[in-house]
Amino acid sequence: MKKKTVLDILEMMEKGEKITMLTAYDYVMASILDEAGTDLLLVGDTMGMVVHGNPTTLPVTLEDSIRHTQAVARGAKQAMVIGDLPFGTFQVSVEETVRNVIKLVKIGNAETVKLEGGSERCEAVKKILDAGIPVMGHLGLTPQSIHKFGGFKVQGKTEESARLLLEESKQLEKAGIFSLVLEAIPWKVAKKITDSLSIPTIGIGAGPYCDGQVLVTYDLLGYFDFGAKFVKRYLNLKEQILKAIQEYNREVREGIFPDLSYSYE
Ligand code: KIV
Repeated sequence: MKKKTVLDILEMMEKGEKITMLTAYDYVMASILDEAGTDLLLVGDTMGMVVHGNPTTLPVTLEDSIRHTQAVARGAKQAMVIGDLPFGTFQVSVEETVRNVIKLVKIGNAETVKLEGGSERCEAVKKILDAGIPVMGHLGLTPQSIHKFGGFKVQGKTEESARLLLEESKQLEKAGIFSLVLEAIPWKVAKKITDSLSIPTIGIGAGPYCDGQVLVTYDLLGYFDFGAKFVKRYLNLKEQILKAIQEYNREVREGIFPDLSYSYE
């Protein structure tokens, strides 16, 4: 099976084909998302909340990101794997950023990396590209900045903040990102940005006019609840798991499971 590359993603945008992206943190889920034909698998730092139970993404470490990216990469036969740069791994200096990115690619097997932020990241983006690694940008509600935003709040709602988002997206494109995540911004702002760029935008809570869409997989499966308006539930997995586990507990307690058909002679 042919692995998708940044060239395929750009070609999809040029042909007007929507790009699908989902988060994955482990091998089994990555294998299923890959088999379903998902184009991009993001080993998002949402792992800090979904997998590790933290209230924010801020505690995620580079080691966490590397370990989960390794597992996802083993399951991705055709999807392109994006390693997410956790908080603290790209804010100190460009040199340190490049060193961390190289670890995420060399040890974690990421094929591209994503980092949050605007024009302040342009220098790092260029240097990562110089190292031969494609970069995805991330603007809008960037969860690593929630303390600055005062919570998980929709961004770009005022004329000035929308103008700034457009400006930042253009600067990131100029620096060389191959794609841009737009999170929790008004759809009109996302559309304007999408129409203004020649690289694909991937929306999450940014309306239907982006070139692609991303969701946290456990959210759409009904396995975890961020409680965001933009999440469509395609399954109620938590309810199904609860039912199955309650039945297992009851059968064990009542001596129903295992019967002899599940036992060795
Ligand atoms: O970390 C993550 O999962 C993300 C997506 C929600 C875009 O950044």
